Amino acid sequence: MTSTEDPAARAGELRRLLDYHARRYYVEDDPEIGDDEYDALYNELRDLEAAHPELTTPDSPTQRVGGQPVERLEKVRHLQPMLSLANVRSAEELRAWVARMRAHLAREGIADAQFRFVCEPKIDGLAISLLYRNGVFERGATRGDGEVGEDVTHNLRTIAQIPLVVDGAPPLLEVRGEVYMSLPDFAALNERLAAEGRSTFMNPRNTAAGTIRQLDPALAAGRPLSMLAYAIGTVEGLELTGQWEALAWLREHGFHVNSEIVALEDEEAVVAQCLEWEQRRGGLEFEIDGVVVKVSDFELQRRLGAAGRDPRWAVAWKFPPTTAKTRLLAIHWNVGKFGDLHPFAELEPVHVGGVTVKLATLHNEEDLARKDLRPGDEVIVLRAGDVIPQVVSPAPHAVENPDREPPPRPPERCPVCDTPTVKPAGSVFTNCPNTACAGRQWQLLRHFVSRGAMDIDGLGETLVGTLLNQGLVRNAADLYALGEDQLLELEGFGEISARNLIAAIDASRERPFHRVLFAIGIEEVGGVTARNLASQFRSLDRLLAATPAEIEQTPGVGPKMAEAIAAQLADPVLLELIERIRAAGLRLEEDGPPPGDGPLAELTFVLTGTLPTLTREQASERILTAGGRVTSTVSKKTDYLLAGDSPGSKLAKAERLGVAVLDEAAFLALLE
Ligand code: IVH
Repeated sequence: MTSTEDPAARAGELRRLLDYHARRYYVEDDPEIGDDEYDALYNELRDLEAAHPELTTPDSPTQRVGGQPVERLEKVRHLQPMLSLANVRSAEELRAWVARMRAHLAREGIADAQFRFVCEPKIDGLAISLLYRNGVFERGATRGDGEVGEDVTHNLRTIAQIPLVVDGAPPLLEVRGEVYMSLPDFAALNERLAAEGRSTFMNPRNTAAGTIRQLDPALAAGRPLSMLAYAIGTVEGLELTGQWEALAWLREHGFHVNSEIVALEDEEAVVAQCLEWEQRRGGLEFEIDGVVVKVSDFELQRRLGAAGRDPRWAVAWKFPPTTAKTRLLAIHWNVGKFGDLHPFAELEPVHVGGVTVKLATLHNEEDLARKDLRPGDEVIVLRAGDVIPQVVSPAPHAVENPDREPPPRPPERCPVCDTPTVKPAGSVFTNCPNTACAGRQWQLLRHFVSRGAMDIDGLGETLVGTLLNQGLVRNAADLYALGEDQLLELEGFGEISARNLIAAIDASRERPFHRVLFAIGIEEVGGVTARNLASQFRSLDRLLAATPAEIEQTPGVGPKMAEAIAAQLADPVLLELIERIRAAGLRLEEDGPPPGDGPLAELTFVLTGTLPTLTREQASERILTAGGRVTSTVSKKTDYLLAGDSPGSKLAKAERLGVAVLDEAAFLALLE
């Protein structure tokens, strides 16, 4: 402990001491020394490393802060996929899950399996993977899509609960867990930001997710993140028998593991545990949105395997969505792509399910009438998971108020263009009939450039609005005539951004015909119908020349829909747009194999459930490129139902109609 001592030995000793005390403080929540003493040790090490830079190691506690910013987040492929979880929402669903596992194992020759369940609070943060080689933290990544995530090592290093070195670790160890911001830390951060006159964060989850993806680790170091380890991923050189043992190993080796986690043998005890946490969810230090229930035994886990992305041996018990009471200030109306007026609610801002809600959808007029919502009412707002907030009903006492406003009525004039509105027979929407309405144009153009349509990078809804308002474009065809010089006159555009946007617009000329057909905005023509129309007619000209009866031959298109499509394709405004995008060089012909060719020629498929390896998109793509067709509803015209796990009502209907049912393996065989 004196200066005569070998500096290298002292540095090593200081690192061990600091790691030990950091663990007592951050991981075990049981500090042995005071902050001053810790700081003294830390400063001694920092000074020693400054005097002998060669003694600084990447795993030194001094290296948690002040790392170099990275230029971008590199993609990393996970050693094994990071799976997701199927949900259960009630005791019955949990029991059904256990019964399904029993049945599955019985088929595997394991009768009367005895389960040990590990119940873990499901923290609402983000999943990460930490890779240790020979006990040294090497790389940390976000979950991403489960296969490929982003390298966020620089930020994870700043989290005190993530050990930089693990004594007694096997040569290769991957630890998985949740990074989150605790509620007290979140409140303190927002207080600090508010005091500094800066804008505050909406909720802990988004703050954690945003922080972890920063390029500069100094930012992450300034925001208090926590981490709880919940699993061991890929590992070499360590034999463990189950989840419970893995958690114990992690805890013993310096990882922060939730002390609430319990192991239970009986499924009714699991139900009771889930209900108890549901009751206590508001009193915890972190936000939880459910409970993860896992079968502990690794051998049973292996036997059970996975269905698609979800392991069969684990489920998430999801808590019911959160509700809150607030005042309905006003009802406004939005104009949709085809002139439909959609009501939405302006609310007195209210905190619900982790976010502040000011606006909520009201779906349509009937829904509004059924709920009997009036401006000024106190209302119940619901936010379920990540879905758009909804107004459920007036608060019970609100309906008794004698001074209540009269029921709201749809506007007599379009709120955007002031054209008198109409109410088409059989529609739940009042309609603005003006095809040139700026509200409609904005929605149409927004749709045209969106991901599933022409996918024009860098052209978001705000910019779409600006282009329309400045008179630079009136419709989609005008985009292809835009020049860099015109963009340069807009606020926020420089030469590079203008060039990039023009390049992105140019690139969209290469989108296949079915995407163009979807993008131009024909009522009732969604992504799947656009594909089917494209493969049926092969070119826009042939579709334009088709009669309603011919259009009806397309899979998934009924008589009414065929009439509606034909009527729109005769509309002069749409025809003018089509001629102009033709002149702009967009693709108006299909270049895949014509129907009648390929192994699935003339065959119609419906997809349902989760397939073991293919996503729905991939399966549809395979069917279409093999000359087959995809529709969304099972009928007598359906040749095959391609069914995965949790198939739902489509399977029952197919069985009733005698439609052949394929699993993925049989489907792949058919393709060959
Ligand atoms: S296990 C079986 N355990 O939930 C593999 N996940 O839907 C699935 N999560 O993205 C992960 N707490 O972010 C597991 N104790 C826990 C968890 C947990 C939260 C999150 C995780 C993942 C999602 C799975």
